[in-house]
Amino acid sequence: MLEQNNISSYNIDNDGYLLLAHVSEIAPGSIKRVILEEKDWEVAIVNTNGKIYAFRDVCPHRALPLSVGRVEGCRVVCIAHTWKFDLEDGGKAACPPIRKSLETYPVRVEQGNIWVKVRIW
Ligand code: FES
Repeated sequence: MLEQNNISSYNIDNDGYLLLAHVSEIAPGSIKRVILEEKDWEVAIVNTNGKIYAFRDVCPHRALPLSVGRVEGCRVVCIAHTWKFDLEDGGKAACPPIRKSLETYPVRVEQGNIWVKVRIW
């Protein structure tokens, strides 16, 4: 089931990281979609292999949301045409092996809070 939050007010720190979720909201092996309403921007947050990853929730193939896809280890798979993106490798397309990559964002986890530097402010 797709987990989604819409955020209209932001908690942003001095380094430009936004508080977007808590680890307890994202089960291991799943993806949460967060909509930044003011910016009309979508972020996907993945919890897998004991790490948290974040990227713009737009498949670079045909712009469908990757948050409706699935997680396979350190890869996220788009359900539309099954392209796979390697989160350990900066979101590079792993299958097919092309140059397109996810727009990934730095993540900090502090006391379970997930802070993401989205770079749109
Ligand atoms: S839209 Fe994602 S693989 Fe085609």
